[in-house]
Amino acid sequence: MFSRGTMKKVFSGKKFRLGPVHQRRSIIEAESPGSEDFLHSGRDEEMLSLSEAMVEQAVGYMAVPLGLAGPLLIDGRQYMIPLATEEPSVIAACSFAGGLTARHGGISTSASDPVMAAQIFIEDKGGLGSAGIEIIQAAQESIKDKLMPMLLSMENRGGGWRGMETDWMESERIFFVTLKIDVRDAMGANLLNSAAERVRPLLEQLTGGQVLMAILSNRCENRIARAAFSLPVKSLLRPGSGGRETAERIVKAARIARKNSDRAVTHNKGIMNGISALALAACNDTRAIEAAAHAYACRDGQCRGLSEYWLEGNVLHGSLEMPLPFAVTGGAVDFHPTSRWALALLDNPDARGLSRIAAAVGLMQNLAALRALVCEGIQEGHLSLHARRLSFSAGARGEDIGAYTQVIRREAIRSRSAAMNRFKRWKKEHAPL
Ligand code: MEV
Repeated sequence: MFSRGTMKKVFSGKKFRLGPVHQRRSIIEAESPGSEDFLHSGRDEEMLSLSEAMVEQAVGYMAVPLGLAGPLLIDGRQYMIPLATEEPSVIAACSFAGGLTARHGGISTSASDPVMAAQIFIEDKGGLGSAGIEIIQAAQESIKDKLMPMLLSMENRGGGWRGMETDWMESERIFFVTLKIDVRDAMGANLLNSAAERVRPLLEQLTGGQVLMAILSNRCENRIARAAFSLPVKSLLRPGSGGRETAERIVKAARIARKNSDRAVTHNKGIMNGISALALAACNDTRAIEAAAHAYACRDGQCRGLSEYWLEGNVLHGSLEMPLPFAVTGGAVDFHPTSRWALALLDNPDARGLSRIAAAVGLMQNLAALRALVCEGIQEGHLSLHARRLSFSAGARGEDIGAYTQVIRREAIRSRSAAMNRFKRWKKEHAPL
């Protein structure tokens, strides 16, 4: 640990703040104990430059594993889904449920138009009170005209202006205007923020008030994607338990998540395991997508599971509906080599297409989690993946990882130090003669 003085001297100096990435890394090497593995693990020049171009005070990059889940059969097409995640079992779970549904017609999806909203909050300085909202509403055409030059290219692509709403917050004596814009393939934050700022002076002039702030809303309740599947219950048959029983248990588990908030949060976290991993692989704004998802889950005042399951005769149906503000252009999306490739692998969908794929991934993640939870539990799968990490930490590389994982499992080795000691002996035993 650094003392406060050293921390300030080392990391706040101009040399650190304004120098190139290599200078910062040299400072870290000299001053930050335990930095060897970090510095060693990320030395790719192209990636260091990319990091510098993307964020301030870059010191390196963090390699999150990227894997392919699938194939998933979505709307009649097969997809391998790029998922970037640090969590073991996410990819295996998505692939498992994807395989199950692919054998029975796959997943069908749909998505609304990608409409985003921005809010402008205006303090009522002229004492208009709620009458101010009528003045603003009457000026809707002027507000639209003011925005048209910046919306033109979006309008040409079929998006653009989708109207506005006004409201009055008595407790704060604030009017607020909500602008709605169809952002087509973008996430829309820049466009919405610029639009909201552009109409600030006009709104102040109209009301005699003062704009407090103008910013998009991440709620995204008008940017919804849906996914659904149907499975014959016999496809869920397992030794010791009938398929129908498993299906009924899945339906019950999902119903509990609709009724109990503590469970709903975990249920939805599982859905986001897949969606956030796809968002990261496609260099989308994971926080915006997560914020919208959790707000939607709480839209009636209680956090509820985002998915629904029900039985019709011998068929299990599952569906998921949620906001998914995915983008295929803008921000880092079409800049980062990984996201460019990830999108190419998905056959370069438009933003709605990507959000539909994301909905399918979320639903598969959820189906796999619920099936495991109501059958064998999830620890069984997790333990074997934990053993792989232990095998790596102990020093195994390449083919040794799998072979030594078996030893860890067989001998129930739990700690890193025990795994390291045993690995040394195991290596000797397996040394070439
Ligand atoms: C673990 O990352 C996700 C689960 O907890 C989801 C769930 O409980 O539904 C397994």
